[in-house]
Amino acid sequence: MEIRRHVGRGAAPGKVILFGEHSVVYGQPAIAAALGHGLGATVIETGNEPRLQIPRWTGGGLSVAPNSQADAGGMDRAFAIAMRAVDLSADQRFSVTIDGELPLGVGLGSSAAFAVSLLRGLADFQRRQLSESDLLAHAQEIETLFHGNPSGLDHTVAATGRCLYFVAGERPTFETIDLKTTIPLVVAWTPRRGTTAEAVRSLRTRWTQSPSKYDRLFTAMGDISLAGRKALEAGDLAQLGHLFQENHKCLQACGVSDPSNDQMVDIALAEGALGAKLTGAGQGGAVIALCPKEPRRVVEAIAKAGFSALFTHVN
Ligand code: MEV
Repeated sequence: MEIRRHVGRGAAPGKVILFGEHSVVYGQPAIAAALGHGLGATVIETGNEPRLQIPRWTGGGLSVAPNSQADAGGMDRAFAIAMRAVDLSADQRFSVTIDGELPLGVGLGSSAAFAVSLLRGLADFQRRQLSESDLLAHAQEIETLFHGNPSGLDHTVAATGRCLYFVAGERPTFETIDLKTTIPLVVAWTPRRGTTAEAVRSLRTRWTQSPSKYDRLFTAMGDISLAGRKALEAGDLAQLGHLFQENHKCLQACGVSDPSNDQMVDIALAEGALGAKLTGAGQGGAVIALCPKEPRRVVEAIAKAGFSALFTHVN
């Protein structure tokens, strides 16, 4: 006899921040785009209590049950929030497996892709449609668990899958950018020192000690985002590369780029990239390099130095 099990499936892309990480937290505009790599959630009816599994999690995988207590782990609480969002109760019987090729925890939006794919997978399992605004609100709640006070940029890109011009705030605003041409990017990464929340917190401490210095940097990064939008809409890759460089200098001055980020940037430039910068929270993690010519050379040189890298297009 054939036994059909009830299933649900959801997916969401990772992201690259092209301009404005960190300064976005201080109200400046940022630009981010969806990546071809993402995460997926597969939900399957079982005979057991709800379980969330991430086999790729470092240290042999992760498996948790939903728990909304304030002292429970972040993943347990995230699972409980997502179940509540689609009216799934703890006495229902199912398991969720998160899979996908997006590197985890290096600044490419894996926590946002996790939140959005989990919500979509559970909604599909419940045969429910989550509106975009509900999806964003619940993903924000999960991201807040992980990052304290996120700008909202990461999960907005994960939920919409678009290249966005984003301004954070009580009511975040975002506009889709019409790219004149696809953007050829090498994305390179290495393990990160600490979490996004820690990187944001330590910059906030430096800002409270010297507000005018950091306000000047944040304003400069906002201006770079504005110019970046124009370059993206005009398809001006030379200007885009120049702006990557300018943005990276500001991020260095903010103290969020570490020697591994700078090394990956330097290798990409030496191999012919038009520009390169840290992407995401920094302190290790990812960089992007604009590589319209010979991207494989850049990928190989970065890999030879012991980092991970891939070539992709943003469109
Ligand atoms: C992290 O991907 C981006 C940051 O700007 C933090 C945020 O926007 O919440 C560093």
